[in-house]
Amino acid sequence: MGKLAVNGGVPVRSNPFPKWPIWDQGEIDALTEVVKSGKWGSLHGNKVSEFEQKYAAMHNAKHGICINSGTLGLRIALMAAGIGGEKEEVIVPAYTFIASASAVIEANAVPVFVDIDSDTYNIDPDKVEKAITPRTKAIMPVHFGGRPADMDRIMEIAKKHNLIVIEDAAQAWGSSWKGTGVGAIGDAGAFSFQSSKNITSAEGGIILTNDDELAKFARAHSNCGRSADGQWYEHYYWGTNVRLTEFQGAVLLAQLARYPELLKRRQKNAAYLNKHLKAIGGTEPLKDDTRITSNSVHIYIWRYKKEQFNNAPRTRFLEALKAEIQQVSPGYSIPLYQQPVFKQKAFGPKGKKIDIAVDYSAYHLHECEKACFEECVWFNQNMMLGTEKDMSDIVEALNKLKKHADEL
Ligand SMILES: Cc1ncc(COP(=O)(O)O)c(C=O)c1O
Repeated sequence: MGKLAVNGGVPVRSNPFPKWPIWDQGEIDALTEVVKSGKWGSLHGNKVSEFEQKYAAMHNAKHGICINSGTLGLRIALMAAGIGGEKEEVIVPAYTFIASASAVIEANAVPVFVDIDSDTYNIDPDKVEKAITPRTKAIMPVHFGGRPADMDRIMEIAKKHNLIVIEDAAQAWGSSWKGTGVGAIGDAGAFSFQSSKNITSAEGGIILTNDDELAKFARAHSNCGRSADGQWYEHYYWGTNVRLTEFQGAVLLAQLARYPELLKRRQKNAAYLNKHLKAIGGTEPLKDDTRITSNSVHIYIWRYKKEQFNNAPRTRFLEALKAEIQQVSPGYSIPLYQQPVFKQKAFGPKGKKIDIAVDYSAYHLHECEKACFEECVWFNQNMMLGTEKDMSDIVEALNKLKKHADEL
């Protein structure tokens, strides 16, 4: 029997981290009110519209348009910005959730993958510039884990090459760059309220923009192509129905009211981990850019350096860490360009191959592959809602693994 829990020793903790979602009487009262009002759809009630206004104001955006997922938000934002043509390229990072790229396919454009900066795990602006071709129409930075991408560089590049910027802010509620909310810096941004997110209505999303025309199309498209001042059965654009319900609006308002307190807790915990992980060695936190004025800390991401842990591969290290603290994740297991859907270009009806002009099998993006296969570690969002004792358990477990690295 060894000292490490993975080898039969006593674990640092056996309690789980906090459960998500967090809810209280606020959600119940808000839902009850909607049920009793009989106004269940957002075309009749005012919960969704109240949330849209509050959420947009919180991010310094002029318009907020709720839709029923972050994926749809990205696709509609792209379309509303005029993107969508078989040969139009949109630059996206390769280390992100599938939706960042599949939304581009949905918008009828071509995703082009660019590597991440290993200090931030966000898209690397130098590599963005190198990936621009005459077909490039937009850049879609992802504020990964809640950490704003370098929006100064991205906006500068976009201006120089006359490109649209759609921010994938699906994980970045309340994040800001030099005091401006994400989603309100580029032409538009989209957020997700899916179950695992820091603010949730089970499913849902919002598009933010300061552009009146873009907002008008996004709103119309999400509501069957109707116009705000047109007749009910007049449809001005090709549209669909991705409206939120008032039940979701009510829950979102309750979640938003609690958000500042939870955000503070996440940020305090992240600062604690940053300080202690740096000191351990071989557990490297990502770099905090001073221009980031708020980070939603959806995922606390750090890099594992096996040289400092007896050269144990990450899988073994994570197995041992999980045995000590009960929860930890390696994050994405493969880069997006290695996903079967991209390798096989299965973008058509019933998974039929559509041979767009990018060879995804030819991609090798070094930092992204290092993150997926060797170095990246995630503490998921529920963990970041823990107490200081929860955080000190994590640090204790990491120190224990360091001390007994010979057991790994
Ligand atoms: C980076 C990123 N983009 C887009 C999405 C899509 O959001 P949704 O799940 O609401 O469609 C997600 C959700 O997980 C995400 O993490």
